[in-house]
Amino acid sequence: MKAIAVKPRNPNSVHLAELAKPKVSDVPNGRGVLVKVLKVGVDATDREINEGLYGNPPPGYDFLVMGHESFGIVEEVGPNVRHVKAGDYVTCTVRRPGGSIFDRSGHSDMTSEETYYERGINLLHGYMTEHYVDDAEFVIRVPAALKHLGVLAEPMSVAEKAVQQVYEAQRRLQVWEPKVAYVLGSGQIGLLSTLILRLRGVEVYTIARGAKPNLKAEIAEAYGAKYVNGSLADIAKQTGAPDLIVEATGNSAIAFEAMTVLGRNGAIVWTSITGGQRKTEVPTDKINLEWVLGNKLLLGSVNANFRHFEAGISDMAQGEIFYPGVTQKILTTPVNGLDNYREMMRQLVEAKDALKVYVN
Ligand code: BGC
Ligand code: ZN
Repeated sequence: MKAIAVKPRNPNSVHLAELAKPKVSDVPNGRGVLVKVLKVGVDATDREINEGLYGNPPPGYDFLVMGHESFGIVEEVGPNVRHVKAGDYVTCTVRRPGGSIFDRSGHSDMTSEETYYERGINLLHGYMTEHYVDDAEFVIRVPAALKHLGVLAEPMSVAEKAVQQVYEAQRRLQVWEPKVAYVLGSGQIGLLSTLILRLRGVEVYTIARGAKPNLKAEIAEAYGAKYVNGSLADIAKQTGAPDLIVEATGNSAIAFEAMTVLGRNGAIVWTSITGGQRKTEVPTDKINLEWVLGNKLLLGSVNANFRHFEAGISDMAQGEIFYPGVTQKILTTPVNGLDNYREMMRQLVEAKDALKVYVN
């Protein structure tokens, strides 16, 4: 069967590869799930992988099948699979366990090991192919009524984990009630974080570079957030210092700048994966002083486990009730068929108005 692959560390190596079709019995103990792939999304990580900056092939291969944002339909399950059956729509987690206690307890997103295994990213083939098989442990059901949003389940899980992590960490305060949140960046993680926080009743400012009117602003505002651009310091003068900041710009300078506007007892969660070498000047005394006097918190969040996928799907469903038809506006740019891999990359790299590129 066909697959879209790259030669990691070789820039612009995207090509069509050939893989053997997997079998349900490839997974031991009757736990296999065979899935026909319907849609796979791409994001900045895929762009960096094709630029040769990130990613590694599985041992024994000189190529890596791309794709970590999957949506498909189950074709067959092993005898010990209970929670999904043939005909169910599903998505699948990205990371696979290593050896740490986190990995062994269903929290491989929190692995304490340096090496991590991620389908379509690091050391494991991804989903940009016709079929895949995986252990039922990693396969999450998507309700049929949400199948138009299924390809967003993975980015949603990443946003969901980030927000949950902040709330979890803020239990240190016993009585934290965030009122104002900033979401920095209006890519998919920024917009989905905006949705999650609006569902929690927070006043959200989605802050990004593009001037209104634009599609991202339209989506953020349809979720009931305010879309703004300008300097963080100026915005904070108007809104008051935020209780919570979700940083998702992909720009490490902004990640640090965010530290200068956070309110007392507040928390920032960083989600950007910045592979570059950027350096910037930071007012360290000011930040240090304000952070100590204000009991502030900074945390990083990567990846997502099965439970975050479930919570994300459930929030997407709630999103359809509160803000019907809004989330699907993120899905701007379908590319039809694995054969069109060049067009997929072109859209991902060049198209300014493409918010979400996915293979259909
Ligand atoms: C993926 C995550 C992954 C991270 C680091 C992101 O693009 O969505 O699942 O953990 O890259 O490789
Ligand atoms: Zn991703």
